[in-house]
Amino acid sequence: MNLQPVFTKIISTGSYLPAKILTNDDLSKIVDTSDEWIRTRSGIRARHIAADGEETSDLALIAAQRALEAAGLTATDIDLLVVATTTPDVIFPSTACIVQDKLGAKNAVAFDIQAVCSGFVYALSIVDKMVSTGGYKNALIIGAEIYSRILNWQDRTTCVLFGDGAGAVVLTRSDVPGILATKLYSDGSRRAILNVPGHVRNGVVYGDPHVHMDGPAVFKMAVNVMAEVCNETLAMANMTAADIDWLVPHQANTRIIDATGRKLGVAPEKTIVTVQGQGNTSAASIPLALDTAVRDGRIKSGDLVQTVGVGGGFTWGSALIRW
Ligand code: ACO
Repeated sequence: MNLQPVFTKIISTGSYLPAKILTNDDLSKIVDTSDEWIRTRSGIRARHIAADGEETSDLALIAAQRALEAAGLTATDIDLLVVATTTPDVIFPSTACIVQDKLGAKNAVAFDIQAVCSGFVYALSIVDKMVSTGGYKNALIIGAEIYSRILNWQDRTTCVLFGDGAGAVVLTRSDVPGILATKLYSDGSRRAILNVPGHVRNGVVYGDPHVHMDGPAVFKMAVNVMAEVCNETLAMANMTAADIDWLVPHQANTRIIDATGRKLGVAPEKTIVTVQGQGNTSAASIPLALDTAVRDGRIKSGDLVQTVGVGGGFTWGSALIRW
């Protein structure tokens, strides 16, 4: 019997953004808004929008292929495939099963995680357990979203904030620690502050199938919980914020990101921010930011990376990673 400790390590990243870019000026022709309002409240300048024929699984597929290529693995090496999404292709099958087929990952167990903007951190925590207990060897986590299809393009309070995209990571069983600590939370009693209330019943859509948000309540909640859960995962690993090389928070809004960094005591130069050109891509935002910082050389092997997500549900969580 092998008694060697088993860990989970991220070995590569990949991402994909749809070709079409919608700027704040473009938006100001659709709703009563301005580049100045959007930039000062959120930091966002532009977002990507999926083409008509593009599905969430198509975005996920390209991000996954790029991550596999960077890992030097093929699709059949993957035995666990998890897609974090709030905007699945269809009600069922899972988007993960559709990606499995498109990718040719025929040896993978595939399923979706639905935790809105915290979906990627939730997936990291679950996959870490499944790999580090020795059951799975090579895993693929993909965060992929097409929020442009669940936005009310007449509602300026929400449609200016979101975008489409996908990010992926490949994880493998390792004898050195990679995922050091994870901590997840949910509070369903706060579900009213951010939701899509519409649902299908007997073939009819009941309720509004678009994003509803109490912006100030979400802002307050996000700022309160993000630094707190980061500190919890640091304590679990006997570390402090001074040990962090890179903070990679959910990319909703630069004001939330800045406030989290300040509360945690992490300098802006150590915080990865991609929301300016992408908007809030929900479950895709953290892996998109990771891929950006890995490919531009900021995140390097050996770095301590703190990720933290927060989103509808309400859900939140953090993962501390040795790269
Ligand atoms: N353009 C112009 N004016 C707007 C727009 C817009 N796009 N949207 C709202 N307004 C108006 C409102 O109608 C309101 O006008 P009124 O005062 O005449 O009624 C006014 O702007 C509100 O302005 P502020 O109070 O300055 O808005 P605030 O500072 O609260 O910013 C925002 C709003 C950006 C939504 C903020 O609350 C926020 O960032 N919340 C967090 C939301 C978020 O990031 N959600 C992402 C999803 S959740 C997640 O990922 C964690």
